[in-house]
Amino acid sequence: MTILNPTLNDLGENARLASVGLLNAALADLTDLSNAARMAHWTVRGPHFAALHELFGKFYADLGGEIDDVAERVVQLGGTPDGTTQAVGARTRLPAYDATLRDGIAHCRALAERYAALARTTRAAVDEAAAAGDADTADLLTGTSRLLDKALWMLEAHLA
Ligand SMILES: [Fe+2]
Repeated sequence: MTILNPTLNDLGENARLASVGLLNAALADLTDLSNAARMAHWTVRGPHFAALHELFGKFYADLGGEIDDVAERVVQLGGTPDGTTQAVGARTRLPAYDATLRDGIAHCRALAERYAALARTTRAAVDEAAAAGDADTADLLTGTSRLLDKALWMLEAHLA
């Protein structure tokens, strides 16, 4: 049972509880994806090394910004971010990233699958937050889904 800290924020407790759950689910997945992007940044090899090393590094940095915004909104709503390594490992809905991947296209494919999956669950969370009456969390996650879509486009351009 999630216990919310008291706040003068006028959103109802039900809306805040719903959003904290949605945001913490997104936090785990985004953190897992950011670590996958960083693994790709570190391990990619092949003729497109320079471009992909830089692209995957930018993905990691961009996800870091989203992670911070999502976790801070959890706190603003009176919740506690599930941000520890253990919580992320237990909560993530993404499949484990293959640490043996080296080929750039294989990294692009593995990341594209994860970006697409996370964009789908993030859009569902947007609808749920809006239905719960928290337009601001819906707006925050809308921005997240837009960032995920943009990265997916860049990955799929490499796969064409
Ligand atoms: Fe680096």
